[in-house]
Amino acid sequence: MNVQSGAARYSPEFDQPVRGDVITADRYTSAEWMEAEYEKLWPHIWHLGGVIADLEEEGDFIRHNFGRESVIMVKQADGTVRAFFNTCPHRGNRLILGEVGSTPRITCGYHGWQFDPDGTLVNVQDPDDFPGGNPCGKVHLEELRCETWGPFVFWNMDKDAKPLLEWLKPFPERLANYGLENWIRAFAVSADCEFNWKIIRDNFNESYHLPTIHPELSTFINDGLPTTVFEMYDNGHNSMWMVGHQATTREDHHSGDVPAPLDDVARAWELDPADYKGRTGDLREAIVRQKRKLGPGRGYRNYDSMTDQQLVDYFHCTLFPNLTITMSPEQCQILRTEPHPSDPAKCVFQHWCLYPPVEGMTEIKGTPLGDIPLEHDAVVRHSTYGDGVSLGFVADQDLSIGTSQQQGLNSRGFKGCMLTHQEKRIQRFHELLNDVIKGAPPPADR
Ligand code: FES
Ligand SMILES: [Fe+2]
Repeated sequence: MNVQSGAARYSPEFDQPVRGDVITADRYTSAEWMEAEYEKLWPHIWHLGGVIADLEEEGDFIRHNFGRESVIMVKQADGTVRAFFNTCPHRGNRLILGEVGSTPRITCGYHGWQFDPDGTLVNVQDPDDFPGGNPCGKVHLEELRCETWGPFVFWNMDKDAKPLLEWLKPFPERLANYGLENWIRAFAVSADCEFNWKIIRDNFNESYHLPTIHPELSTFINDGLPTTVFEMYDNGHNSMWMVGHQATTREDHHSGDVPAPLDDVARAWELDPADYKGRTGDLREAIVRQKRKLGPGRGYRNYDSMTDQQLVDYFHCTLFPNLTITMSPEQCQILRTEPHPSDPAKCVFQHWCLYPPVEGMTEIKGTPLGDIPLEHDAVVRHSTYGDGVSLGFVADQDLSIGTSQQQGLNSRGFKGCMLTHQEKRIQRFHELLNDVIKGAPPPADR
């Protein structure tokens, strides 16, 4: 495939109609909205629960606390993964309190009931003291759907939901060339934030904020509308291709010297930035050629299977309702917000980054958290946003606007969003959510 350019578009194939529902503030601020989402939305979607790398041996587990719910994913003797609600069938105590770990028997901290990794109750105190006889072997932890894609484990409370791979369409196919299966999650950071989960969801459904919130990206990502491709799929998911390795065409960065940091990238691929003075837009195609020529020898085994566009551009995927995946050949970013258990004006923000294994590479340069070791979960931390702990440079910028937007939405003076055409994905997201709140299944299950 040739490097793609051309007019910004929702191609007819990937456009979707919108009705023009007014996006009012109550969906970000009211307890009723939050309750409706807990009732109608969250029990019916696939949730990304963790990475398979944490589940090597039988009894290895990952716990995912989501809002008021908690789910454990447990590796089975036959190599599969099963998910259970993290609640004891005796009197409801939460069973697993750590994030990840391994145990031959899941043991409740209250009265000591014990369960095998397959969720079967195997040991209780005073087994003869039950009206129906010894419950061991008869009682099981409450199970959920659990399926995997690439390096990821997902769970779903809805027994009737479509299988994960179908639900994720078109991304398993569109991302197949990157070879994500064996990528390594090098960091997983999260923070409690003072805004509704949909604030950042909206932010990821538009690139209108790039020139104002992320101005320094303008010398590396072409955020100009004529070159950005937006797609909306009928199952509620979206994507955006942003031209990378090229400065924005909103300003003239193309007729003079190659701007930083593009000049350093050129040198890293054995190109002389001086050769591109006055035509910096051509550098992108030159980098494609150099990546093809030099990449495999440098250990980037996934380059051979990629299109030219995948080699240099950013594929930003927003899945309904709350998962974002941003792909480049050398990095997979997972960005997500999840609701607070009870406060609509709060959420948890999560940011993971995965990297391809590259022979001989022990450190990843220039991640959103700086240079870090190329190893599983080199950095894992949870913080409170505003305490000065970074969630990644660009993510920090996105989050910086969340609290003040939440505050502004509380005003009686706010009458509803006024969106640009390029923010149509936000409009569609809220209309799909409106339908779900009124009782429709999530769009990927319709
Ligand atoms: S609540 Fe778990 S053993 Fe009693
Ligand atoms: Fe952003």
